[in-house]
Amino acid sequence: MKPGNMKKNKSNGKLKEYGIFIVLLTICSIYSTAFKSYKGGPRPPWVAPTAASAVANPLKGNVSATDAGKKTYTTYCVVCHGNKGKGDGLAASGLQVQPADHSSAKVQAQQDGALFWKMSEGRSPMPPYKGVLNETQRWQLVNYIRTLAKH
Ligand code: HEC
Repeated sequence: MKPGNMKKNKSNGKLKEYGIFIVLLTICSIYSTAFKSYKGGPRPPWVAPTAASAVANPLKGNVSATDAGKKTYTTYCVVCHGNKGKGDGLAASGLQVQPADHSSAKVQAQQDGALFWKMSEGRSPMPPYKGVLNETQRWQLVNYIRTLAKH
């Protein structure tokens, strides 16, 4: 083997080791981010900022918006929150935090703006939806959540 080749092989090996190290580091950091929120005692209550809660729903009372919200809800939310929004979706039992019951007084007592803000921002394990659904779709969802209230 020519000395030049040997040198090349050696540096390839180093590169590989370095690559494995980076992969391990990435896995560790993903794990620590995923579980960070469950360490250190009870979860603090989830409260929307006052200014966000005060934002008015531009689609309030708009029936076709509510229908559109139902479709979006079925696609994105039912898996965790369940068909009737009770927090009993298929994925719910595998989560460390139970999905909220959208029919409950606790959820229904909140202002439209607060629900809009929470679905926009998310809180682990619930993902944020502001990058997934546009504002109109999110207000439509608020309309639909109102129909889930216990009668
Ligand atoms: C991966 C499961 C999951 C999905 C999917 C999901 N959620 Fe959630 N959601 C949760 C969990 C868990 C909570 C409770 C979070 C907490 O209390 O910290 C929650 C809480 C909420 C809340 C706050 C309720 C309260 O108590 O104030 C709203 C509003 C909400 N979800 C709306 C939605 C909407 C709308 C969708 C679909 C676009 C959705 N969620 C999709 C898991 C999910």
